[in-house]
Amino acid sequence: MCGIIGYIGKKQQAKEVLLHGLHTLEYRGYDSAGMALWMQNQIQLIKAKGKVSVLADKVNDDAINSHIGIAHTRWATHGVPSEHNSHPHQNKRVTLVHNGIIENYHILKEELLQHGYTFTSETDSEIAAAYIDYCYTQTNSKLEALSKAYHELKGSFAFGILFDDDPSTIYAMRKQSPLVLGTSEDAQFLASDISAFLAYTNRYIILQHEEIAIIKEHQIEIIDLQQNVLPKEVIVSELDVQAIQKDGYDHFMLKEIHEEPQAVEKTIHSYMQDSIEELKESLSYLKDIDRIHIVACGSAMYAGMIAKSLIESQARIQTDCVCASEYRYQQPIYTKHTLAIFISQSGETADTLAALQMAKEEGCLTLGIVNVVGSSLAREADHVLYTKAGPEISVATTKAYCTQVALLSLVACYFAMKQNLLDANNISNINKDLKNISSTMESLIQQTSYRDLAKHLYEKEHIFFLGRGLDYALCMEGSLKLKEISYIHSEAYPAGELKHGTISLIEEGTPVIALATDMDLYEKTLSNIKEVKARGAYVILLISENLKEHVTNDACDDVIYVPETSKFLQGVLTIIPLQLLAYETACLRGCEIDQPRNLAKSVTVE
Ligand code: AGP
Repeated sequence: MCGIIGYIGKKQQAKEVLLHGLHTLEYRGYDSAGMALWMQNQIQLIKAKGKVSVLADKVNDDAINSHIGIAHTRWATHGVPSEHNSHPHQNKRVTLVHNGIIENYHILKEELLQHGYTFTSETDSEIAAAYIDYCYTQTNSKLEALSKAYHELKGSFAFGILFDDDPSTIYAMRKQSPLVLGTSEDAQFLASDISAFLAYTNRYIILQHEEIAIIKEHQIEIIDLQQNVLPKEVIVSELDVQAIQKDGYDHFMLKEIHEEPQAVEKTIHSYMQDSIEELKESLSYLKDIDRIHIVACGSAMYAGMIAKSLIESQARIQTDCVCASEYRYQQPIYTKHTLAIFISQSGETADTLAALQMAKEEGCLTLGIVNVVGSSLAREADHVLYTKAGPEISVATTKAYCTQVALLSLVACYFAMKQNLLDANNISNINKDLKNISSTMESLIQQTSYRDLAKHLYEKEHIFFLGRGLDYALCMEGSLKLKEISYIHSEAYPAGELKHGTISLIEEGTPVIALATDMDLYEKTLSNIKEVKARGAYVILLISENLKEHVTNDACDDVIYVPETSKFLQGVLTIIPLQLLAYETACLRGCEIDQPRNLAKSVTVE
């Protein structure tokens, strides 16, 4: 998704601040970048297709700088990736950067053309700039113009705005797309997320819907659409700059995999210390729940699939897991005691937020499982449980996914206890496994076989993942990880389903990554794996280490042993080899690991 950064301050350092911010926002995914600076009493635009470094080369001139500017990394939605479509967009007196989609841009464009406006780009964002100018012409007031535009622009937006008759102010407003405002003694900032200005200040304000920010050198004022000044809390972020550095790792993804043990431990310990029985109190608001919907996108949904499997098998509560983009249009059925759980690392995924709104309108109790404090999902759900993964920079989620699975496992434990389906012995064993989980994860990460195994994969065109039950849910995530960073086509299949057609694709040397860590189903899985092995597949088998006697030559070519743990925690362990296999395979292919093509870290458009 697009990234926004803005600066206004005493020091003439806008160029440096904006470039630094754009670099920290690169993880969001983009195809072009640009900035607008107030120089020689006018707003000057510098833009570049491609990486931020191309833009940096263009502004590599001491004569180029300012006290105020806005900048943007563009993830194309309307109009091809190009210099003229990149932001900032300027139309008459308004220059802006935009994250989101203006859904009624066609209608507005027709109206503006009739009023003599012309356009040079193919973007909805330039139409937004022109429309704000048009409102300014009608009202002769910037704030009234912004308020009017807020109502008339349909869809989603986060704007940083400059007016050519106001060289000392940046304006900002948002609908759906996130925007935060950084504040310090001698400079003020705006950005899509705080990582963009964390090097300058850790104090920030979250801009909410129907609010306008007036950002000047020494202060930020927030008003509502009726121009009433709103008191806003300044939040001090716990994050530090180190959290958004690679710390010597080749890629953020590898760093974040290595952070998984402590992220999982921190997440678990933020809800319990010694026993899952502590959850009975902290999650007591869920005591009447008799039906569960789990709603999310991508990896978050695959984490939800694990939760569905655990809650239904261990707590015997009917649970559906649906991708948010489908859930919204399925007319879900709600009982009086239905809980809808929404999972999102960013807390800004448009489809998930829209599904949340629908569930709330139906009167359903909603719970958010979120990694970003103060995100839209965290604010809009009835209850929120935070994962403690810390900032996740790589587009391909790893530690955030692991902490989602860990937190959902605790929720599943709560429901199993609520249903009186965990006896004292079960609870004691789970508590023991919870205490050991981070060290067990560490041992899996430190295994070094992944690069060697990836050598069997990286030149292949198609790779299959097979598993049953929990293992199938893990296959879905493992397959997505491989696809999104290595660009190899991959499919995850229920192990028992392959023979109903797709097995026809298995030929000599076809790689199959098979999972047999679900202790209730491994025997049947192994027989399915032998079916593909018999047809020439190259099989990497992930199997519980206590099932070694079942590892035979007719079942696999290579094996990865996964320590056994409580069924509630197996997913947190088994995913690690799949993440590292995907990473090593993508490395061998020379792929752009942290910012895969076409992808964005937070999909804030539908
Ligand atoms: C996973 O690696 C992808 N980045 C993507 O599937 C992601 O999980 C999905 O877009 C959901 O994002 P969210 O957790 O921020 O809602």
